[in-house]
Amino acid sequence: MHVLITAGPTREPLDPVRYLTNRSSGKMGYAMAHAFIHAGHSVLLISGPTTLDVPDHVDFIPIETAAEMHAAVANSIGGVDIAVFAAAVADYTPAHVAAHKIKKSGATLTLELVRTPDILGAARLEFGFAGTLVGFAAETENLEANARDKLTRKGCNLIIANDVSKPAFGFDSDRNEVLLVYPDHHEALPANSKHALAHHLVTAIVELHKGHQSSVISKDQELALIHLPQ
Ligand code: PMT
Repeated sequence: MHVLITAGPTREPLDPVRYLTNRSSGKMGYAMAHAFIHAGHSVLLISGPTTLDVPDHVDFIPIETAAEMHAAVANSIGGVDIAVFAAAVADYTPAHVAAHKIKKSGATLTLELVRTPDILGAARLEFGFAGTLVGFAAETENLEANARDKLTRKGCNLIIANDVSKPAFGFDSDRNEVLLVYPDHHEALPANSKHALAHHLVTAIVELHKGHQSSVISKDQELALIHLPQ
């Protein structure tokens, strides 16, 4: 199978020396890339800046901003079967990037921010992606309800939700604890290293993809039957 994975943070520039970013290390997304390769799939990893080594045998597109990640996903998602969005994409970016370093002046500084493109949300509607779509949800409360809302709004087949208010898990840690939220049920996976967890997640996603494929095929067969000459 061909798999696209987004990973890491984005960096939204303010001026030539400053940017807005978040605490994503890329570890979860890179562990997923490694596990898909280990299971015999081909992987395109689109990643914001991290200190991690790119896993062997992975096709790699480095990006910095949410806009660059949106463009890279738009260009490549058409060729994949499964897309997994593990990146922590900035939801807002500075409205203006100063050409020169912003100088200290008053006691306060107000920044104007504008929304970035919702890349996962664009997968179905804008990019026309018909494969298996998996998002992550970084939540600090109401884990299942918020994840289920994202599952529906973004047209996903699965949301992998993590509670990022727990310091031992989530952002920039080696371990994670996730809740798999499907359209009709959910399943909690116990805390584990991101690497071990990634192998379980890859098995679950590949199974889901097989089910998704067979339901697409049976819908096509239904249509073929409807259109059979009488
Ligand atoms: O990188 P690590 O340090 O290992 O940390 C892992 C992680 C906590 C970053 C990862 O497990 C995780 O939860 N990634 C998603 C983080 C996030 O931004 O979640 P969200 O709930 O804000 O976004 C929901 C989904 O929409 C995500 O799949 C996200 O990639 C996607 N999104 C969000 C905003 C946006 N503009 N475009 C997107 O594609």
